[in-house]
Amino acid sequence: MIKISPSILSCDFARMGEEIARVDKFADYLHVDVMDGLFVPNISFGMPVIKSIRKTTDMIFDVHLMIDRPERYIDEFAKLGSDIITIHYESTDDPAKVLKMIRAAGKKAGISIKPRTDVSVLAPLLPLCDLVLIMTVEPGFGGQKFIHDMMDKVSAVRSIIKKENYNIEVEVDGGINAETAAIAAKAGANVLVAGSSVFSSKNAEKAISDMRKAAEQSYIS
Ligand code: DX5
Ligand code: ZN
Repeated sequence: MIKISPSILSCDFARMGEEIARVDKFADYLHVDVMDGLFVPNISFGMPVIKSIRKTTDMIFDVHLMIDRPERYIDEFAKLGSDIITIHYESTDDPAKVLKMIRAAGKKAGISIKPRTDVSVLAPLLPLCDLVLIMTVEPGFGGQKFIHDMMDKVSAVRSIIKKENYNIEVEVDGGINAETAAIAAKAGANVLVAGSSVFSSKNAEKAISDMRKAAEQSYIS
């Protein structure tokens, strides 16, 4: 099943509640990008913002931690009402330990890799994951161009998941619109993060439904 996760990184931060309301009933998850200016060269927002927006919606919070040593903050992000917490393989010395911490906090655990990280690093971690996020841009900024070469990684992860019969979602993030959503779904992605293509659109409902239709038509599994 295809799921759409609009990224609030691209919304108008002065009106976050209203922006979330534009996607609330149409999207499956809300993608929440946390950046610390160390792991990525940008700073977005952190705990106080998540705490405030948590009160405005019942959406599933798909929290993407682009922060150095996320193990320092897992319990806090869990308590704030995150539902899925995704960490970066490259951000910690012990990704397995952090994934276990996320599950121990009662949340779904995700692992992400940057475009230059080899997909093979994921295999041993899959039994500890509920979601794998293949970055289709260099993390740090919205509005970048989709890197087509990442589709080989999506197919590779999807095929291990099938073979091993794991219950893991495959997410892509960066440069997703109706056209690239179809390409990613064809490779085996089922969760599509979309920032600018949803929030820059006048009609977010239509942007989401166009993306969903395009992806559903080409989804392979
Ligand atoms: C980038 C973030 C993305 C970003 C995607 O580092 O992880 O979630 O918001 O933005 P678009 O959809 O505009 O590429
Ligand atoms: Zn993201």
